[in-house]
Amino acid sequence: MLLEVRNLTVYYDTVLALDDISLTVGEGEIVAMIGPNGAGKSTALKAICGLVKPKSGEVLFQGENINGKQPYQLVEKGLCLVPEGRRVFASMSVLENLEMGSYTRSNKKTLQEYIDKVFSIFPLLKERQRQRAGTLSSGEQQMLAIGRALMLKPKLLLLDEPSLGLSPNYVNTVFEKIKEINKDGTTILLVEQNARMALEYADRGYVFEIGKIAFEDKAKNLLENDKVRKSFLGGI
Ligand SMILES: Nc1ncnc2c1ncn2[C@@H]1O[C@H](COP(=O)(O)OP(=O)(O)OP(=O)(O)O)[C@@H](O)[C@H]1O
Ligand SMILES: [Mg+2]
Repeated sequence: MLLEVRNLTVYYDTVLALDDISLTVGEGEIVAMIGPNGAGKSTALKAICGLVKPKSGEVLFQGENINGKQPYQLVEKGLCLVPEGRRVFASMSVLENLEMGSYTRSNKKTLQEYIDKVFSIFPLLKERQRQRAGTLSSGEQQMLAIGRALMLKPKLLLLDEPSLGLSPNYVNTVFEKIKEINKDGTTILLVEQNARMALEYADRGYVFEIGKIAFEDKAKNLLENDKVRKSFLGGI
């Protein structure tokens, strides 16, 4: 297993946000976490990448217990989060944003290779490389946020609501890109409100419900599960 979360419990002060959840992500998979607002999905991502401290439980990355590690240490190990809301550096250009995302700024050749790789996945970013990031559309900013994370060569990319606020057409585009990144060798764990779409692209899924995992299965089975459809996929 690339990632193994065991019996994770997270409190915010006295509020129980995650109650003894366990999940796994295998090398090469796309795994989706879905479920209603406030169910704890973002908290799970934050606990995995060291942004919130669990009360109990373990997170193992490539077999190593990473509890208590700082987010930057996890980035160095290949675990990288694209948080909700596309935080790009608005006043910098697209290209500068990508350069900022990299640790290899000192090595011009490697830096250029990484940038070319990102441009090959997101040709639009190449066209817009001199444009100020703050003037990109929301969909374009999302591409840039993902592109910047790819500059860190993650083994496991965590994505919190990559399709948030995007038009239906763009939602498709973003998921196609996620698929492409995955095919290229990056494992993906993502959170999505757009549950049906996420499950159509994912290998497996976890359905969260107020701090617990209510269902877990192959994505295909979840899409066909009557209870899941009724309660979590809008009844269709
Ligand atoms: N920093 C915080 N301080 C206190 N409570 C928090 C904090 N962050 C989240 N919570 C609470 O923890 C619970 C889980 O929140 P979380 O953001 O993980 O849910 P979510 O499943 O990502 O929801 P959404 O789909 O709305 O993004 C919620 O009740 C939320 O109010
Ligand atoms: Mg969330």
